[in-house]
Amino acid sequence: MQRTDIRTALQSKAFNSLINVRGWVRSRRGNKQVSFIALNDGSTIKNIQIVVDLTNFSEEQLKPVTTGSCISATGMLVPSQGAGQDVEIQLTELEVNLYPLQKKGLSMEYLRTIAHLRPRTNTFGAVFRLRHHMAMAIHTYFHEHGYYYFHTPLITASDAEGAGQMFQVTTKNLYKLQYDEAGHIDYSDDFFGKMTSLTVSGQLEGELGALALGKIYTFGPTFRAENSNTPRHLAEFWMIEPEVAFIDKAELMDIEEDFIKYCVRWALNNCQDDLQFLNQFVDKGLIERLESVVRTDFVRLPYTEGVRILQEAKKNGKKFEFPCEWGDDLSSEHERYLVEEHFRKPVIMTDYPRDIKAFYMKTNEGEEAGRETVQGTDVLFPQIGEIIGGSVREESFEKLDKEIERRGMDMSNYQWYLDTRRFGSAPHAGFGLGFERLMLFVTGMQNIRDVIPFPRTPKNAEF
Ligand code: 4AD
Ligand code: MG
Repeated sequence: MQRTDIRTALQSKAFNSLINVRGWVRSRRGNKQVSFIALNDGSTIKNIQIVVDLTNFSEEQLKPVTTGSCISATGMLVPSQGAGQDVEIQLTELEVNLYPLQKKGLSMEYLRTIAHLRPRTNTFGAVFRLRHHMAMAIHTYFHEHGYYYFHTPLITASDAEGAGQMFQVTTKNLYKLQYDEAGHIDYSDDFFGKMTSLTVSGQLEGELGALALGKIYTFGPTFRAENSNTPRHLAEFWMIEPEVAFIDKAELMDIEEDFIKYCVRWALNNCQDDLQFLNQFVDKGLIERLESVVRTDFVRLPYTEGVRILQEAKKNGKKFEFPCEWGDDLSSEHERYLVEEHFRKPVIMTDYPRDIKAFYMKTNEGEEAGRETVQGTDVLFPQIGEIIGGSVREESFEKLDKEIERRGMDMSNYQWYLDTRRFGSAPHAGFGLGFERLMLFVTGMQNIRDVIPFPRTPKNAEF
């Protein structure tokens, strides 16, 4: 018989007809006359109740129906007499496969070690359904706003962020490396004839798209070999990078704010069952926080002003682990102080010191030497810290060329990029949203490893 998914079955009004559902047993309870099986198939957080009349089924037949086992249940769909559900199934035919499991709360850390079990739990079911919905929200937002989905390469010869945290890609035999006179590895016989890596960002290629199609976005895997074992960093994560021609800093911030609110609103409108579950069992403040972000105007705060507020707080006795002098890269404790304690709202921080930001950001005019700033626009969120990194791009060939040289970057890898400034350059700006940071926010999960099906972190690529 054809299977119906449980989400559909729960909404069905086709009473007194036969239906087949398949899924994993969440629990079984009952007495000598009747047994109740709560069954879940991942299509929704809700279970369907299977009612077993023990005059038709023996204890022996039901013995393998334990928590975690997989069953196929056929029976009559009827309105439910019990509270808590509208419909239930009166079992007539049962098939059981065995995957038994203890019915007890398992820790997130423990579940990370059991690949097959993790996605079958209520929590990860909710997280991964929400992950799907956020991807749909993102594509819908950009499509409806006239952006083109632009595919940028995963293998690249240029370091977009200039931070040198790249994973190398090679077909060379690592046991037999050849070196030139200077002791450098000779890449001329490597697959691409030069040194290549996995991308840390699709932005540079994305800029070429925006300077031709006007508005583009990328949405793909991104790789960073930074050795940061934190609850907010992954070595492989997904990033969304819109890039838009002819906009300035204020318009860029408007897009950042509008886009992220759209995604959060989408979750509130389309994922209530899963959000309710997470709000009850993972983070009691979740729904309230999501609703508050959608309602609030984000604060727009120049870096220099942010540092002033942080130093003021320090003077008044606030303890920070890391320094926050002008010129320092703020750490997440600083970002979270501003967002969670000082403003109690999301903050878009702007105009950062040039030397803590990437080479491509547009410099502000008229700053004194040593205090140069660039038009960055990072979005800082409660619980998360930085969720978006963005900026206006330097469109002047002369300035960009000089900056690449000043930083000692290998000019030969950026000529194709500089060509956008040599030929028909135009003002443009864009940003990158870390997909898993957004997922942390909309699920209330504490660790970024728990919002991606197969996390990649230092010393961890088991499955
Ligand atoms: O601030 P980042 O490094 O900016 C860029 O890569 C720019 N090229 C984006 C652009 O302007 N097109 O990274 C952007 C975002 C961060 O704000 C953060 O949300 C996320 O990507 N991110 C990470 N997420 C998980 N794990 C990591 N290791 C991350 N590094 C950055
Ligand atoms: Mg950043």
